[in-house]
Amino acid sequence: MKAKRVSDSKIEIAQLMYPEHANPAGNVHGGYILKIVDEAAAIAAARHSHQNIVTASVDRMDFISPVYIGNLIFAKASINYTGKTSMEIGVRVEAECIRTGIHTHVGSAYLTFVALDENDKPIEIPQILPETEEEKRRFIEAQERREKRLKQIKKHEHIQQACIPRMNK
Ligand SMILES: CC(C)(COP(=O)(O)OP(=O)(O)OC[C@H]1O[C@@H](n2cnc3c(N)ncnc32)[C@H](O)[C@@H]1OP(=O)(O)O)[C@@H](O)C(=O)NCCC(=O)NCCS
Repeated sequence: MKAKRVSDSKIEIAQLMYPEHANPAGNVHGGYILKIVDEAAAIAAARHSHQNIVTASVDRMDFISPVYIGNLIFAKASINYTGKTSMEIGVRVEAECIRTGIHTHVGSAYLTFVALDENDKPIEIPQILPETEEEKRRFIEAQERREKRLKQIKKHEHIQQACIPRMNK
């Protein structure tokens, strides 16, 4: 399968924040921003793999600065790393004040998506080809995160199995 460049799938979505996205004081809900993050990552993952993709995990997201009604939100997503069937996507969210044009960094997150075949089984995807220095740095950092993530998943599995005998008592 031919490797693909980061630029082949990277995307940026923009959305204006309305009152329906916010609390009565005008602050946009964090959950709504997370939805945009998931959407942006899903689009990049689908463009890279050309398969049905699902969110396997979302790493933490800290909200660094607030977003208000009337702000324009940008979510920039690109593939950082690919495994056999999974890929890590980095998403950076910025808010623009329409009146001033000032941009603020709202937060960033790393999501892992898995490509599935018609039987909902993980299917192989094209490898990512990091080209620029920044893409190469992100690739290495994503590989390190993946290793930590997979160790944590194993830990959770161990905890689940340890609970079964107690549930049977
Ligand atoms: C994600 C899912 C497909 C993984 O299935 P699985 O049977 O555990 O698959 P495998 O063990 O073969 O792993 C497949 C790949 O997913 C990765 N993976 C599995 N669970 C993961 C997790 N929690 N976080 C990150 N990566 C994960 C594996 O590392 C592997 O990657 P690789 O092929 O690149 O090495 C399955 O758990 C699932 O369907 N989850 C529900 C997804 C969903 O509904 N999301 C929300 C709505 S879109």
